[in-house]
Amino acid sequence: MTPPRRCTSFPSAIALTAVLTFIAGCDSSSGGTGVVSGTEEAVLTLAPNVPPPITRDHPTRVVVNLESQELVLPLSDGVDYTFWTFGGGVPGRFIRVREGDVVEFHLNNRPDSRMPHNIDLHAVTGPGGGATSSFVTPGQSATFVFKALNPGLYVYHCATAPVGMHIANGMYGLILVEPEGGLPPVDREYYVMQGEIYTAGGYGEPGLQPFDMEKALDEDPDYVVFNGAVGALTGDNALTADVGETVRLFVGNGGPSLISSFHVIGEIFDRVHIEAGTAVTENVQTTLVPAGGAAIVEFETQVPGEFLIVDHAIFRAFNKGALGMLTVGGEGDSLIYSGRIQEGVYVPEGGAVQTLPADAPVVRATNDAERVAFGQRVFTQNCSACHQANGEGLANAFPPLAGADYLNADRARAIATVVNGLDGPLTVNGERFDGVMPALRLTDEDVANVLTYVYSEWGNAGFVIQPAEVAAVRAQQ
Ligand code: CU
Repeated sequence: MTPPRRCTSFPSAIALTAVLTFIAGCDSSSGGTGVVSGTEEAVLTLAPNVPPPITRDHPTRVVVNLESQELVLPLSDGVDYTFWTFGGGVPGRFIRVREGDVVEFHLNNRPDSRMPHNIDLHAVTGPGGGATSSFVTPGQSATFVFKALNPGLYVYHCATAPVGMHIANGMYGLILVEPEGGLPPVDREYYVMQGEIYTAGGYGEPGLQPFDMEKALDEDPDYVVFNGAVGALTGDNALTADVGETVRLFVGNGGPSLISSFHVIGEIFDRVHIEAGTAVTENVQTTLVPAGGAAIVEFETQVPGEFLIVDHAIFRAFNKGALGMLTVGGEGDSLIYSGRIQEGVYVPEGGAVQTLPADAPVVRATNDAERVAFGQRVFTQNCSACHQANGEGLANAFPPLAGADYLNADRARAIATVVNGLDGPLTVNGERFDGVMPALRLTDEDVANVLTYVYSEWGNAGFVIQPAEVAAVRAQQ
């Protein structure tokens, strides 16, 4: 049974506008949560930050000022993309209101925009979710008002034609409508939103990449990312928590086309608000987040370490960018997780096999310094996951490259290893390895660059490898 609604009279309600009075009021139907009183400006945050929880015990008039802005942002290391944004970042700024609030929404399109935009908020009950009321050309502003009738976490996106292109270019975000009474308090809240990006060049191809409509129609993106870029949630950008804390992730999927199999490696979601609605299920490993949908996942951290956040359609995670990280600090509990207690031989699977389109333009290094710089990029994208960014490898799994006798003794063998891969036992610096390195389908230029980079680092031999030498090794096979 629904408890009786609070319905006392507030004198300040007299001051509210006619529109507000018309759509607010006090009723006991869904979304009628008392008399609307007061006005406040919404706090809007860029991912992964979330505005603070709402502590009000009554609905109010919330003013949202959101600006559409087109700007060049990094998509990956050495790769840029012209994003269209809501509020200067991808995903768009997080909006947080309460069930029953009246939202006065201002969409402002910057004068330096090249495109018209609008907004369809899935939290809106009304035609187009606000799209037709909010259409703005560059330098224009539009206002509409809606009442947040249904609690939940909702996607918003641009709905200007071609809609898919506006979404693919980054025009999506989340609006949370907190239920009356709020969400249970947690220690950490984060905003994570997936989207795919369709670039003319393949994954990792440097430079400013244009949108590719053919790939978009085929739903075949080169990038699937969290929060708008490869690495937006890794390294220094990783989410953080401490052991024993509760974490709530507001997870959205802008699409435009792919469904996310959202998963945190090494964690179990204690609670999931399925499709970000009212139903809560417990003890979930992977939750589906549809294109244009969301989920709220909550868990407590029990042990420290690095927990990878992935789309478990796993090539997207390790080869297209859909990889984030939650770093949990604090003391371990060996009864929950022992850590490594036995050594053995590990045969890795997978790897970063990259295929370049046949017609991909090859950017050629013109001097040794460029070769090293280009090679570092190839290394980061293809090699560092196993051999590690510092070239030290991992004991019993991935051989070191730093000061490696196997590498420095024979440059032709090193070239052949990158070109063909390697399978079976070998000894590097006295340590025995028995694993599989996948063949990296790189161009002669990329092989020359990555080996020149590796040879230039970590006390290695300093060889400069030319593409012709790579071609010669290939020709001998
Ligand atoms: Cu748009």
